[in-house]
Order: sequence, then structure tokens, then C-alpha cells
Amino acid sequence: MDAKISIRPVQPHETVVVAAIFSAAREQLRFLPRLHSPDEEREFISACFRTEQILVAATGGTVCGFAACHGDWLNHLYVHPDKQGQGCGDLLLARCKVVSQGILQLWCFASNRRARQFYERRGFTIAELTDGSRNEERLPDIRYVWRTPPGGAMTSPPASGTA
Ligand SMILES: CC(C)(COP(=O)(O)OP(=O)(O)OC[C@H]1O[C@@H](n2cnc3c(N)ncnc32)[C@H](O)[C@@H]1OP(=O)(O)O)[C@@H](O)C(=O)NCCC(=O)NCCS
Repeated sequence: MDAKISIRPVQPHETVVVAAIFSAAREQLRFLPRLHSPDEEREFISACFRTEQILVAATGGTVCGFAACHGDWLNHLYVHPDKQGQGCGDLLLARCKVVSQGILQLWCFASNRRARQFYERRGFTIAELTDGSRNEERLPDIRYVWRTPPGGAMTSPPASGTA
């Protein structure tokens, strides 16, 4: 694990880098149909900046992943393919849990085996399985839910946000 990953709120000028991470990480998911152009994905991320609480993971001053939450929904969690497997996703998810109201839920494509394993190892359980008819990609997906364990208050991360 990289010892110098910092987690912080996104800055308004970081739309392009966040959109690039979103596009690159989705490109890597071979089962996903490409329904939108890079321009459309940038526009989508710009809209998220207006509605979501976004945290980024940065190493050496470079943004390499982000998480976007709205209420108890974790709507997006993406790490750049070149930076995966170094602890960014784990730290982003841990911070989302700390700032949540004790519950988080998310949608994950059933075919996304790595992400499913990632969430299940971090306390998320399956709440709903779908046939995909309600999502844009028309792919079966899973609603996962995490709740603060009974009697288990989340511990705060270091004030610096550096792991
Ligand atoms: C899922 C994702 C967010 C995890 O982020 P990450 O930064 O790679 O995660 P971490 O480095 O914290 O490692 C998480 C786990 O993956 C494992 N891992 C690391 N490198 C790996 C690799 N190359 N292949 C498979 N697993 C790997 C780690 O050992 C760790 O295992 P653990 O769950 O037993 O602890 C990231 O892989 C990603 O962005 N994937 C593509 C987009 C996506 O699917 N997002 C979720 C949408 S619901």
C-alpha cells in the first residue's frame, strides 16, 4: 500500500482529471457497452460536481481516484487503472463510511467481479439483484448496503487524511 495517499474534497477545477479517471476506469470494464463519448462523460462528471459530495485520492499531488456520494448513496467509486491495487479505493471507501450517517448503498454490475469482491470484503451485503432492465446499460446489477456494525462507531481517520 502506498504510504502517501491523501484523501480530500475535490476542487472545482478538477473536473477534467476526475472525468478522465471515470472514462479510463470504465474503459477497463470490458463487459460495459460504451454508450457515451468522452465529451458526454465529461459533461456528466461536471453535473456530478454540482450535486454530489466528491472526495479524491491523490498521490504525490496527482489525483488518481474519486468517490461521489449523495445522501446514503455511494454513486461512484473509480480509481485510475494505473493506480489500482495500491490502496486508493480502500481509503476512499473508508472515508465515505466515516462521513456517512452509518449507512451506504450502491449499485454494482453483477459482472464486475473485482468490485463485488472489493465491497463484500468491506462489509457490504447484497440487498437486491436486478435483471438490468432499469439501468441504461441493460446489464444485471446488484444493490449493496453497508451499515455501521452494531456498537461499532467508525473511527476517524488521521486529521491530515494521509494514510
Ligand atoms: C474497485 C476499485 C474502486 C478498487 O480500488 P483499488 O484502489 O484498486 O483498491 P485497493 O488498492 O484498495 O485494493 C482492493 C483489493 O483489490 C486487490 N487487488 C489489487 N490489485 C489487484 C489486481 N491487479 N487485480 C485484482 N485485485 C487486485 C487488493 O489486493 C485488494 O484486495 P482486498 O479486497 O483483499 O483487500 C478499482 O479497482 C476500480 O476503480 N475499478 C474499476 C471501476 C469500478 O469497478 N468501480 C466500482 C463501480 S461499482
